[in-house]
Amino acid sequence: MSEVVERWGSRRAFIIAVTGAAVGLGNIWRFPWMTGENGGAAFLLLYVVFLALLGLPVMVAEIMIGRAGRRTPMQALTFLARDAGRSRHWGLLGLFCGITLFFILSFYSVVSGWSIEYLVEALSGNFASRSPEEIGGAFDAFLASPGLVLLNHSIFLLLTMSVVALGVGGGLERLNNLLMPLLYLLLILLVGYAVTTSGFTTALAWLFKPDLSAVTLVAVFNAMGHAFFTLAVGAGALMAYGAYMPDDQSLPRAVVTVAILDVAVALLAGIAIFSIVFSQGMDPASGPGLMFVTLPIAFADLPGGALWLGCFFVLLLLATWTSSINLAEPMVAMLGSTGMARPLAALIIGVGVWLMGLPSALSFSIWSDVHLFHDMTLFDLATTLPIDIMLPIGGLLIAVFAVWVVDAPRAMAAIGAGERFYQVWRAVVRWVSIPLLLVVLLGFFLMK
Ligand code: PFF
Ligand code: NA
Repeated sequence: MSEVVERWGSRRAFIIAVTGAAVGLGNIWRFPWMTGENGGAAFLLLYVVFLALLGLPVMVAEIMIGRAGRRTPMQALTFLARDAGRSRHWGLLGLFCGITLFFILSFYSVVSGWSIEYLVEALSGNFASRSPEEIGGAFDAFLASPGLVLLNHSIFLLLTMSVVALGVGGGLERLNNLLMPLLYLLLILLVGYAVTTSGFTTALAWLFKPDLSAVTLVAVFNAMGHAFFTLAVGAGALMAYGAYMPDDQSLPRAVVTVAILDVAVALLAGIAIFSIVFSQGMDPASGPGLMFVTLPIAFADLPGGALWLGCFFVLLLLATWTSSINLAEPMVAMLGSTGMARPLAALIIGVGVWLMGLPSALSFSIWSDVHLFHDMTLFDLATTLPIDIMLPIGGLLIAVFAVWVVDAPRAMAAIGAGERFYQVWRAVVRWVSIPLLLVVLLGFFLMK
């Protein structure tokens, strides 16, 4: 397990790679869904607080570990722990992260599959002449057809695992870098449209005027999980990227840049989607279908809408493709480090993820009657377990490792922002992030 010597070609390249992992379904699909279900602005407020107190400090911790170890996550953790005279069992944290990635990719692929279906339907003009009611009904009908949902899940997973198997993620990243500004532009265009709808002012109030009575325990967990999920923190994926970070780059500056972009994309999507929700008199708490129902309605209203909607789903798919490659890559690397050939490792992980995706894929059809803990559907369970529970636990352990296991001089050098910043960061992680995580996680387990 020797040190990696490759580096990203530039500081920008590192930021672009991390942005590729961060911006995805979390921003455009899950953020509006969660905000709608948890009382709007109150959720947004909680989410921003968690981003600042947990997401960002732990993101610095996670990338720092990768950069200090300059190895794949499991090896970096083992190496740093051994070097500091601590237990080499810390390597198991890498394994836990791998399991989290496995669960996340399983539903991520299913939902990306929904986007493939919507791309095809948009381009065939299926939404153009339809009423909002029909568009909503079409989504439910699609989810109720297991064959179609599984087909799209399979296609997306195949696309993801082929790139990982062939090791051509770099090429895709450059394409992504070229096209992502277009996604941002399209979202801005959508917001421009949203301003003209009757629901715009209601949407702004809903998003930015917090009603503190909407702060429930569930909203707190969802906001905490989402802060990790949207930044791609807590599952070792960014640790893997940190190993290739150039030596002279400031980690905090890179992290803040990515976070601002990530929040901006989520807010643009939220403003557009909730304007449509309120101008159509829909329920903001419409669940995971919210994006898939509102955006076709908006585009159907615009000249050349079918084409715009098609463009939107192409760009969304590109964003989710890079995120899912980032989810799959560390798992394949981990399995590959046992000496297994990369394509075989990718095949095994791919088959496993496909099977693990079945509960999410079939949750709205043949398994729609299954309800577990607190009346959750299989889909709720498949998203809540990795996002709201496993990511925060991973984040907690990563934070503990970063401030108590890694040698201080080594950690300070790997952050690369001077001693003063290091001291403040370490104090925040020790006295704010870790206690906060413990309290909220404890609350979660006590609620059961
Ligand atoms: N950050 C991604 C999103 O918002 O869609 C999801 C994600 C990617 C989470 C990679 C975790 C990860 F390792
Ligand atoms: Na995100």
